[in-house]
Amino acid sequence: MIQETSLLGMKRTHMCGDLRLADAGQQVTVNGWVDRVRDNGGVLFLLVRDRAGIVQCTFDKSVDAALFDIAFTCRTEFVVAVRGQLAARDAAAVNPKMPTGEVEIIASDLRILSKAETTPFEIDDSKEVGDQVRLKYRYLDLRRPMMQKNLMLRHRVTQAARNYFDEQGFLEIETPMLTKSTPEGARDYLVPSRVHPGSFYALPQSPQQYKQLLMLAGMDRYMQITRCFRDEDLRADRQPEFTQIDLEMSFVDQEDVIAVNEGFLQRVFKEVLDVDIALPLPRITWQQAMDKYGSDKPDTRFGLEICDITDLAAQCSFKVFQQTAANGGTVRLINAAGFAGKFPRKEIDKLGEFVKTYRAKGLAWLKLADDGAMTSSFAKFLSQEELDQIKARAGMQPGDLLFVIADADWETAATALGALRCELAKRLDLIRKDDYKLLWVTEFPQFEYSEEEDRLVAKHHPFTAPMDEDIPLLDTNPKAVRAQAYDIILNGCELGGGSIRIHDPALQTKMFQALGFTEQKAQEQFGHLITAFSYGAPPHGGLAYGLDRLCMLMAGLDSIRDVIAFPKVQNASDLMMQCPSPVEQKQLDELGIALAHPAGES
Ligand code: AMO
Ligand code: AMP
Repeated sequence: MIQETSLLGMKRTHMCGDLRLADAGQQVTVNGWVDRVRDNGGVLFLLVRDRAGIVQCTFDKSVDAALFDIAFTCRTEFVVAVRGQLAARDAAAVNPKMPTGEVEIIASDLRILSKAETTPFEIDDSKEVGDQVRLKYRYLDLRRPMMQKNLMLRHRVTQAARNYFDEQGFLEIETPMLTKSTPEGARDYLVPSRVHPGSFYALPQSPQQYKQLLMLAGMDRYMQITRCFRDEDLRADRQPEFTQIDLEMSFVDQEDVIAVNEGFLQRVFKEVLDVDIALPLPRITWQQAMDKYGSDKPDTRFGLEICDITDLAAQCSFKVFQQTAANGGTVRLINAAGFAGKFPRKEIDKLGEFVKTYRAKGLAWLKLADDGAMTSSFAKFLSQEELDQIKARAGMQPGDLLFVIADADWETAATALGALRCELAKRLDLIRKDDYKLLWVTEFPQFEYSEEEDRLVAKHHPFTAPMDEDIPLLDTNPKAVRAQAYDIILNGCELGGGSIRIHDPALQTKMFQALGFTEQKAQEQFGHLITAFSYGAPPHGGLAYGLDRLCMLMAGLDSIRDVIAFPKVQNASDLMMQCPSPVEQKQLDELGIALAHPAGES
């Protein structure tokens, strides 16, 4: 028999988690999921959960045996409506761990709205659940209070963004999801056109061109919270579809863009976490970041800064150092000050292996015990004076440990030390998750060399303006050109990036040339943009944040998956919807598509 399961008469008056001692005495109705059933023999407790939290509902057999019997049939995850009087708990029964722990609902009515099979895992934050099963049953995973909290935080971040940018005069404007495939950047997700057989749309990697065209259209200030698609290898902070808070502004320079965004960051941290961010934020050039931290997204929550000793190395008697320096290479070090005792020889050797994964050729080291006793992989090759100079440069004291890398390529040495720096901080537990260190990295190189394509590619994107004083270098020494590009870094993560754009069609054409486009190819791919610039283009610039990353870091999490309702797994599939998936032959026929590799083959 199908029983009455509608809400009729049992609509909630309160959210479960909102009930407090001040409400005691009221008749209340709650709707939610049975989180736990506790049977105290004759008294049954249903803990009922909704988005706001959990409240205890008490059924006493001696008061209402029929109602008790219905409650007795309830299992976890049943959906119920409970009515009763909210009462203060006896002092002995108060649960200080629950926000509603001072009260309980003395139930006078109960309706089971929906029954539940045993769930594949318990809806309980304290239980470890495998990723595969969490994502297959994501709707159950999302019932966990932790995940609900994460999505509520995300909501608050997006609301703060909308409100702030609205107050600053930004218009929220949507841009197409079906757009044109363009070279540069990551691999596109393609969408076949039925109407134009053999032609494809691409899903946007970002609304970059559209937002620039909106500036040309006179919209002045644009923002959009928008989905972006990139077919690239996934990592903890990368998803194939992710969300940007995307902005563009007209008649501005870098200072204006930075100022508006510092205001936003201060606002969102205050509103969502009640954390005060001091302005202006620190700034560092790309070169300084690489030299000091060995990374273009430095984590500044800890020290362990890199120190250059190339000049000393050039004069020293240790061949590895001396020759590297003499041949135009670099010798750099990190002083793990005070941590000598934490790294026995075996651990140092492991770190030697670690830096090799970053292409370093070796890791030399020098340790001073607290009593001043020295051990080292290279000290024996140096004179006392040479050693003293290096120690002085590194600020070395007893109890310190130096790690040194020599390399022909400064960027290799810097990057390996940068990775070592983070690894040391992790091993030494120097990182606090609730510490928020924001900084701007500016003056990025305009180009980087792509081994895959054997040419220079844009480090940011081809619409980024070079620094005015570096424009002449476009012809003579493109590798040295710096861009008017800036990234905002939070705790060692690239939170956002942007640039001042080229608005002069002649300079844009020159840029395409520098990137190796023939004039014809540039016209084919970007002709619409070059034409648009010829009808009056305002100077403009902007930035885009990775919203998922911002939420992840604000929530103190390690993966953006935990702030995305329905994320993809490592191989880009959705385990819940089971996609991507094969389609009907009829659908392929309509699109004029023949498969070289039918589904299942690869
Ligand atoms: P960019 O490519 O640097 O710039 O992207 C901006 C920010 O988006 C986030 N992000 C990602 N987040 C999750 N998964 C991904 N796969 C992913 N890729 C990028 C990062 C990054 O900082 N149009 C330009 C912005 C501009 O110039 O205004 C752009 O897209 O947090
Ligand atoms: P070796 O002379 O090969 O025994 O090396 C002496 C020390 O120098 C060892 O600790 C090596 O790891 C280190 N070493 C070798 N090459 C490099 C390099 N390119 N950078 C830093 N240390 C190195």
